[in-house]
Amino acid sequence: MKRREKTYGEMREEVFRMLHDMYIVAALCRQWGDSGKGKIVDLLAWLWAQVVIRPTGGHNAGHTIVVNGKQIILHIIPSSILHDKRGVVSAIGNGVVLYPKALDEDLNLLKNEGVSFDKLMIALNAKLIMPQHILMDRIKESDPKSGTLGTTGRGIGPAYTDDVARIGLLVNDLLNKDVLYKKIKRNLDDKLKILSFYDPALIRKIMKHEHLENGIYYKGPKKIFDVDAIVERYYQYGKEFGGMIRDVDAFVQKIAGKKRILLEGAQGDLLSFIHGSRPYVTSSDCTAQGMAMGAGLPNWESIDMILGILKAFVMTRVGKGPFPTEIGGARSDKWCNSGADREMEDLKYPHASINSSNPFQQGVALRRKGGEYGASTGRTRRVGWVDLPLARSTSKTSRDKAILTKLDVLDGCETIKICNEYIWKGPRMRFGERILRRGDRLSVAIPYAEFLSHCEPVYTEFPGYGDISEIRSLDDMPKEFKRIYSYVVKKGKIDPKILSVGADRKATIIL
Ligand code: IMP
Repeated sequence: MKRREKTYGEMREEVFRMLHDMYIVAALCRQWGDSGKGKIVDLLAWLWAQVVIRPTGGHNAGHTIVVNGKQIILHIIPSSILHDKRGVVSAIGNGVVLYPKALDEDLNLLKNEGVSFDKLMIALNAKLIMPQHILMDRIKESDPKSGTLGTTGRGIGPAYTDDVARIGLLVNDLLNKDVLYKKIKRNLDDKLKILSFYDPALIRKIMKHEHLENGIYYKGPKKIFDVDAIVERYYQYGKEFGGMIRDVDAFVQKIAGKKRILLEGAQGDLLSFIHGSRPYVTSSDCTAQGMAMGAGLPNWESIDMILGILKAFVMTRVGKGPFPTEIGGARSDKWCNSGADREMEDLKYPHASINSSNPFQQGVALRRKGGEYGASTGRTRRVGWVDLPLARSTSKTSRDKAILTKLDVLDGCETIKICNEYIWKGPRMRFGERILRRGDRLSVAIPYAEFLSHCEPVYTEFPGYGDISEIRSLDDMPKEFKRIYSYVVKKGKIDPKILSVGADRKATIIL
């Protein structure tokens, strides 16, 4: 049922009512990332925020934004950059690992599209991703014996590891050539010892990769790294970014309680290296706690509202690791982790249907319908039904509210399944004080690979609900939708504040 679109003023009023008297709001994914944060951040920057900070992660994330009707993918700059001209400040916080080449590419894209970035700030104490980090990440991932995680190969883990090991570099080092040289040298001395154990041909291949600027940092099999070339290139980047490198922590502390700040999550709760489904996680704490630290806030109690995004009623995961509700199970996992991309999938499964009785084919069709291919890597995302035991494991405080996204994608799906609990299929195992035995029913997940890999989902099935993309209020939703929605809200103990029924800003219901 088509309704009159709300005006900007009406939508703004609704958001201000929802965030009444609030100054700091976080928007983050409650699942394994890719839940449509880009649209939500853009929407809140358009209607509400004065400052948007990306506090964690690196260019392993990617978000698609639409400029003059054209889609562009940014990797490190917050989605709010489109609102730069309107005075919205976009900042990259101290918890981010920054690969200068990725930032340079984002900036060039914006320049070409005529998008200004005068208000962009980069925290002087954000961490630097160096060529050696990308090399280490890719070496590890190319060795099946070392137990690969299916990382994005962007050097994220090694960069955070160096930071904790106190041998990492910070963004501010780009500004001082002597410091840069000294720190790079010290860091590489450490790496060269480790790299001497690896195949020189593999090292050469990776060092010549386009992510490593096609070999400009490669010195040959013995020395591997051309220190002068790295220093020169990184110093040039420093000159390019110079005016944007700022003390973001001090800025945030100064404006907290005075300006409306939005924290833009990267990845998702289940990928947090502290609270996620370890070991198949990223290397930052992408929960609200980690975001507060990465934004330079004193603690996460400073966040007034946490908008946890759930892609519903189909969720996704990229890379390896258990995914109990995966549609197509092990076959889907294998296919998606084989390097398959959209083109391969279109060629091989052109007729897959979202109502196929073959779950693998159904998964392929749902992925195609939702455009579930990595913005950063092009990888096929594994798709699965919404998992309430996992949702229950992540929502914690009264400040936690929910956003449901991509609700329109299931148009035409005859049966929608929701996982309300698991049956334990593993051997007798202990998880802290809990002892699990075969056949036990479990309603709250422990986001831990050894736990999730033994859980079989129990589904409640619902008839599908058709096209909802033009509906703009919960009251107008078809009864089939309302039935599933009420079930998920009640059983998942979530409190939705926003529903997204399409990519457009206006395809949004604010509750
Ligand atoms: P890394 O962050 O590249 O080290 O990858 C570690 C894991 O996190 C892999 O399973 C990746 O697929 C996953 N991951 C990292 N970034 C994203 C993201 O933005 N969306 C979804 N998954 C991600």
